Amino acid sequence: MYIRQKLSLTLFALFFTGIFFSSSVFGQATLEEVSAASGIPTDQALIDEGKGLFSANCYSCHRIHSDWTGPGLANVWERWESQETLYEWIKNNGAVLASGDAYANELYEAWNGSVMTNFAWLEDNQVTALLAYIQDETVKGPEEVVADGGGGDGTSSESGVPSQYINLILIGLLVVLALILGVLVLIVTVLRRYIIAKKEDLDEEDQEIVNERVDLPAGLRSPQFLFIVVFIFAAVVAKSAIDGLYSIGVQQGYQPKQPIAFSHALHAGQYEIECQYCHTGVMESKSANIPSANICMNCHINVATGSPEIAKIYKAIDWDPDTQTYGENQQPIEWVRVHNLPDLSYFNHAQHVNVGGQECQTCHGPIETMEVVYQHSQLTMGWCINCHRETEINTDNAYYDKLVKLHESDDPMVVEDIGGLECSKCHY
Ligand code: HEC
Ligand code: HEC
Ligand code: HEC
Ligand code: HEC
Ligand code: HEC
Ligand code: HEC
Repeated sequence: MYIRQKLSLTLFALFFTGIFFSSSVFGQATLEEVSAASGIPTDQALIDEGKGLFSANCYSCHRIHSDWTGPGLANVWERWESQETLYEWIKNNGAVLASGDAYANELYEAWNGSVMTNFAWLEDNQVTALLAYIQDETVKGPEEVVADGGGGDGTSSESGVPSQYINLILIGLLVVLALILGVLVLIVTVLRRYIIAKKEDLDEEDQEIVNERVDLPAGLRSPQFLFIVVFIFAAVVAKSAIDGLYSIGVQQGYQPKQPIAFSHALHAGQYEIECQYCHTGVMESKSANIPSANICMNCHINVATGSPEIAKIYKAIDWDPDTQTYGENQQPIEWVRVHNLPDLSYFNHAQHVNVGGQECQTCHGPIETMEVVYQHSQLTMGWCINCHRETEINTDNAYYDKLVKLHESDDPMVVEDIGGLECSKCHY
């Protein structure tokens, strides 16, 4: 019996070393090491500030680990001769190009003369924050979160492995398992040859084991192997079923194609048109409103008149750009609704944006970087409730002065304290 035990122990040890090595990562420099060479600071507050600046101003054209409209920015500080030129570039790239800087001009050529936006308003410390964020992401490696779920306040799946990766990881593990199995069979064969060579030292029982053939088909049919396969299969199925159940009716990430290629990144991002200019209802009413074509026409009567996308606006409102007249046959543009709560619930924009002082981005994500709008938050009841438990009410508000005095507690006053968890507040 003793050889068999030894063999299985070795196999076991090998198996775990295999798993261990297959999952460990070699040769990653730490943030501190990279920072020591680059001189870019690493404190978390700065990185967070940089992240905000990046997603508001740079994300529309740049990713860290891959090229986008502009180059991928990982390790970008290493590509510039001096830190000063890099700062100058980020703030005012036109000036750097005009100064004749060789690297900048090469880059500009390589990107076919694409023009990077001018950020003359950025302060030096904001550029440092941006670089601190880029450095941090560089070191973290390419695991970009495309649309980070949740409202930036821990209200949804921000931590943990995203579920779409779990299945990949499981499949990866299976492949590793199969490889290890192959190696093990090889080792067993070699060991057996070796033992057979010194057969005479073995007692009868051990000889019997050695003479047994390695029977792979039988191995595959063995209860242990079947158990492992069934177990992994059941785990995968259970995981998908649970995910499926939780996401019934949850449309997070929903990004329908719109009838006109209207871009928030262009209008709200690059041209910095205020959200309220188009979504006229947000401050005063329940609904934010989708702008009518008249609002588009404030500009597009003159702007980009030759574009086929703008022609769709003209067609909808029956505008003839040649004669500059409207016809009879006007129809609304059929935008596809992205956010939609069920009828049983009540949500009011004015209450949140005007009274509550909440930013659009807290709930809608970085709209000003979106070419096509997607649903950033879960919009489930749990999402509303979590935020009401955590968010302090906006006390810049005479109405609340007395209430806050009465509250007299060391804890800050959150929406829950003014009845934000009562069913009837959100349900008709
Ligand atoms: C409108 C698109 C656009 C935006 C927005 C933009 N960039 Fe760029 N960026 C580019 C392009 C394109 C290039 C390549 C050079 C060129 O063609 O001008 C570039 C180049 C760069 C480079 C040099 C890359 C290298 O490989 O050396 C840096 C650094 C950079 N951008 C940083 C930023 C930062 C930081 C922001 C946000 C504050 C930003 N960019 C916003 C388009 C953009
Ligand atoms: C120039 C006009 C304009 C500006 C400025 C604008 N939007 Fe929009 N917005 C639209 C139009 C048109 C739609 C409908 C088409 C679409 O979904 O892209 C829309 C759709 C949306 C939607 C999705 C609505 C739905 O169907 O659920 C949200 C959320 C939104 N905008 C938020 C914002 C925020 C936040 C800002 C400011 C950062 C902003 N918008 C600025 C015109 C504008
Ligand atoms: C405050 C001015 C303003 C308003 C309002 C406005 N736009 Fe624009 N829009 C622009 C500017 C500026 C451009 C960029 C034009 C260019 O690149 O030549 C643009 C570009 C576009 C483009 C891309 C055109 C192309 O093919 O290059 C589309 C599509 C568009 N707008 C749709 C809309 C729609 C739909 C609305 C109404 C919901 C709207 N815009 C409201 C200023 C505006
Ligand atoms: C507290 C979270 C929250 C904030 C803050 C918020 N929204 Fe919304 N928004 C929602 C929800 C929830 C819906 C879906 C409403 C529905 O289906 O009745 C929505 C829907 C919309 C729509 C679709 C049309 C409508 O009114 O249903 C637009 C456009 C919109 N929001 C724009 C904005 C803009 C612009 C701002 C900032 C000025 C903003 N939102 C701030 C949660 C928010
Ligand atoms: C980003 C945080 C946030 C989210 C998400 C959010 N709320 Fe609120 N909500 C607030 C704040 C802050 C107030 C307090 C406004 C004030 O000062 O009156 C509020 C107030 C309310 C009130 C009034 C409560 C009262 O007692 O006066 C209702 C109703 C409400 N929210 C409904 C919703 C619904 C429905 C959702 C989900 C679709 C939602 N909220 C999501 C932050 C949020
Ligand atoms: C802060 C706002 C808010 C409060 C408070 C709230 N709800 Fe809801 N509730 C919602 C929203 C929003 C939805 C729709 C969520 C969705 O579509 O996933 C919802 C959905 C529901 C549903 C339907 C679930 C489904 O799967 O369709 C029930 C039942 C419900 N709520 C019961 C309650 C009860 C009971 C209370 C009081 C204990 C309560 N709610 C308090 C916002 C709220």
